[in-house]
Amino acid sequence: MTSPNTTQGAADPIQSYLDKGLRNYWYPVAPSWQVGDAPIGITRLGDQIVLWRDKEGKVRALEDRCPHRGARLSLGWNLGGSVACWYHGIEVDGGGTVVKVPAVSNCPLEGQQCVKSYPVEEHAGAIFLWFGDDAHKEPAPLKLPDELVGDEYANFVCMSNWKCNYQYAIDNVMDPMHGAYLHATSHSMAEGDKQADMRVRKTETGLMFEKIGQRDVNFDWVELGETGALWMRLAIPYQKKFGPGGSFGIVGFAVPVDENNCQVYFWRARKVSGWQRDAWRFLYRNRLEGLHWAVLEQDRYVLESMAPNAREHEFLYQHDVGVTRVRRMLRQRAQQHFAELDAYREQAAGAASATSATGHSHA
Ligand code: FES
Ligand SMILES: [Fe+2]
Repeated sequence: MTSPNTTQGAADPIQSYLDKGLRNYWYPVAPSWQVGDAPIGITRLGDQIVLWRDKEGKVRALEDRCPHRGARLSLGWNLGGSVACWYHGIEVDGGGTVVKVPAVSNCPLEGQQCVKSYPVEEHAGAIFLWFGDDAHKEPAPLKLPDELVGDEYANFVCMSNWKCNYQYAIDNVMDPMHGAYLHATSHSMAEGDKQADMRVRKTETGLMFEKIGQRDVNFDWVELGETGALWMRLAIPYQKKFGPGGSFGIVGFAVPVDENNCQVYFWRARKVSGWQRDAWRFLYRNRLEGLHWAVLEQDRYVLESMAPNAREHEFLYQHDVGVTRVRRMLRQRAQQHFAELDAYREQAAGAASATSATGHSHA
């Protein structure tokens, strides 16, 4: 079956891994407000996950599958430190250990850590999970861009569900040229040249992709960073009437849901403090947020209606160098993950055969 807006598919294992979602990164998986007392079930990178808040307000994340018969734990009850399955009441704590099997006495499942748990952090109004593969179970430190941490910027997070593979969302942000066309009648991207030469340069954490000779007029540059998470950053100039704070900063994440769906997170930030911060927050809520949604909907509309397997039949040209470069980088990461997983498995197999040869379990 041909799936909409995916890429070459299963013939190429690297591409098929990429289509599901590149692991070994932190990803935002839900805005903070979405996770309250009741457990919720989500799908990200093809994994079914249950989230809930414990008594201290800390978010817990487990594979959404009861170790007894596989019911979804997200249908169950939040007991604070643990979640109880609705079906027969098994209680699993935030680390994935079965703490109670109430329907029988002395069940051997009790005390076993048999449900996968995800490391969780909460920042800037969103919940981030670490999606490590077997060779990367320990999370990398997560360092978010300045717009999302500290007091210098005031930000709002906006999340949207898009019916396309996340790689299309990345391509879209790594393509500043579309601003002058797709968003030509918007409040912020009507100005500037309709043509540009683009260049890519390396930065400390990734790369910068920019128009040569035009800056602070339209969507003129975008940066890709890799700091435990894969983020994109851009700034769009703002007219004075849109209040204090200079350019409008955007930090974006494309989060795989499954091969045909993704979530996009865009933090919208301005460098403002004191009364200016209040003024901006008021203006954003009352006027700007609606304008930005209209722009984002243009992106969604185009991406969701692209031809099935659009990436197999495309003709890229000069202003697509950012797109090409990022695709190459993602492919390299995928290849690297395959190699690291192979090495990890070889090592594990070696350790297992050494154990069976000596009869010792501590090889
Ligand atoms: S399936 Fe969860 S307790 Fe039986
Ligand atoms: Fe756009």
